[in-house]
Amino acid sequence: MAHQSDLIAEDIGAYLAAHERKSLLRFLTCGSVDDGKSTLIGRLLYDSKMIFEDQLAALEADSKKVGTQGGEIDFALLVDGLAAEREQGITIDVAYRFFSTDKRKFIVADTPGHEQYTRNMVTGASTADAAVILIDARKGVLTQTRRHSYLVKLLGIRHVILAINKMDLVDWSQARFDEILADYRAFAAQIGLTDFTAIPMSALRGDNITSHSEAAPWYQGPALMSLLEDLPVEDDLREQPFRMPVQWVNRPNLDFRGFSGFISSGSVRPGDRIKVLPSSRESTVDRIVTMGGDLDEAVAGQSVTLTLKDEIDVSRGDVIAQAASPPEVADQFEATIVWMDDEAMLPGRPYLLKLGARTVGASITEPKHKVNVNTLEKLAAKRLELNEIGVCNLSLDAPIAFDPYADNRELGGFILIDRISNRTVAAGMLHFALRRSQNVHWQALDVDKAARGALKGQRGRVVWLTGLSGSGKSTIANLVEKKLHANGRHTYLLDGDNVRHGLNKDLGFTDEDRVENIRRVAEVAKLMVDAGLIVLVSFISPFRAERQLARDLQADGDFVEVFVDTPLEIAEARDVKGLYKKARAGQLKNFTGIDSPYEAPETPEIRIDTTRTSAEQAAEVIAAWLEGELDYTI
Ligand code: ADX
Repeated sequence: MAHQSDLIAEDIGAYLAAHERKSLLRFLTCGSVDDGKSTLIGRLLYDSKMIFEDQLAALEADSKKVGTQGGEIDFALLVDGLAAEREQGITIDVAYRFFSTDKRKFIVADTPGHEQYTRNMVTGASTADAAVILIDARKGVLTQTRRHSYLVKLLGIRHVILAINKMDLVDWSQARFDEILADYRAFAAQIGLTDFTAIPMSALRGDNITSHSEAAPWYQGPALMSLLEDLPVEDDLREQPFRMPVQWVNRPNLDFRGFSGFISSGSVRPGDRIKVLPSSRESTVDRIVTMGGDLDEAVAGQSVTLTLKDEIDVSRGDVIAQAASPPEVADQFEATIVWMDDEAMLPGRPYLLKLGARTVGASITEPKHKVNVNTLEKLAAKRLELNEIGVCNLSLDAPIAFDPYADNRELGGFILIDRISNRTVAAGMLHFALRRSQNVHWQALDVDKAARGALKGQRGRVVWLTGLSGSGKSTIANLVEKKLHANGRHTYLLDGDNVRHGLNKDLGFTDEDRVENIRRVAEVAKLMVDAGLIVLVSFISPFRAERQLARDLQADGDFVEVFVDTPLEIAEARDVKGLYKKARAGQLKNFTGIDSPYEAPETPEIRIDTTRTSAEQAAEVIAAWLEGELDYTI
């Protein structure tokens, strides 16, 4: 690899040592397809000479073949990489590139500018210290510029550089530069972005990129590279209170117990008083252990292992923090959510939330509003679709330690993961904890589930029947209840059609409503099981995620999933309620199996093939299965 530093040839050891000590700046470039973004990145890489020699040769050859610069080097080709992208003329995903100068190392995230790629931008921006927003001097501030600026502000990127590019095409007109700047300033004020630096440049010609250009004598500010080299970054983080999410507990033998993690903010020294969250236990740092020996101090950005003076309980996912200013602990929040999955967000659905080193179950309320990122209007919304941004409340299964995103990106930024597919479906930023969660406590009750069950001589549990409409769920559930009742069991049957006449009469059959339907009935079933009852639930419950939620609410072994497996053709042929006919005729929308999905259970406790088993036989099987396990035993 060629590099401008002569040290490489003279003293490689000294070069590498200097390189090690250099600070790292992560930045993001955003702009639309034609603003010259790829050219700018290519230029930065070329001027810092961090390009492989053979890549350079290929670039020259390519520029002649497909370049848009008449045989001169087309820097955009360096960045646009993939052949398919070249043909399309756009960059599609986030590309990370590394380069360095004598002063600093850089990682640049290049994200595409076109409308549908908010997702890529959020991915690229999540760790960025700075953003370079490109503007084509001929076009001025565009919708994309506004959208990118809004996202940059939302993601809390501290340093914003406005690169007003292609100045050579407007004859380096100061008036044009001032006009764009005034436009941008007016817009930026609306989103609370007051601090940014604007640079007039030509990425193609190399003006104001690495050195100050003669082309614009009226511009007295820095060239882009010098600005990037001088931006203060790590200091900001080091001055904040100490935070270290525990990635793992390091216990090689009985004499050593260390807690390893990445310091997300602040600094730590042996002797510092710390607090472990969410448990709030305190101790004192004994040693800071690293591969290269113990340290006197460790700072944000370092991975270390801490040992403590006291034997206190610390687990993976906990946060070790400065005792005097610890993060908050809560389980309900308001947050901004950026939806990044093709499947829309469903309020009430159980997702997994990952923040720091902690993963917990989480559900989201209906958005309070979503934001049109082009106009910044707040709009009413029932859900969030791909690339949409909204403000919602979040409710977690367990309390976590956090900081508001505005104060600490590591402890305030999170991702949401789909429990079934394991895909990352959203990124989000915590605003604040909801006070109500801090004021509602669990009431400890003396008569508990076991005591209530003992009195009835049984253990409360749920038998959850799922299957298509007309599959035979209710018929079977009814027979099972009769049998159990005859055996002296205390039971209750929750049936979809019936519950929808009362508790759930406000709900219809959209995906959102079905999620809420099941969430409510799962909670009711939980209360009834707690009362010591054997609860039969007969709902289509078409989605795996909500059946999993219902299962997670019960103790191990207390959720018995029964898949009433009837093929669509057969349920449709029976059509007891005449609903399939209506659905086929287009008179009934979102009908399960027709134009609304049914996700069959993969590993139910009991599967009933109704093409071979009668309802009576099915009820026998289920009742026998239950009776085998029901008796209350301590
Ligand atoms: S679920 O999908 O939300 O679990 P639930 O079991 O409560 O459904 O209600 C299903 C019953 O509602 C069906 O048995 C049927 O009688 C009736 N129904 C009315 N419209 C629909 C529809 N669009 N899809 C499915 N069932 C419907």
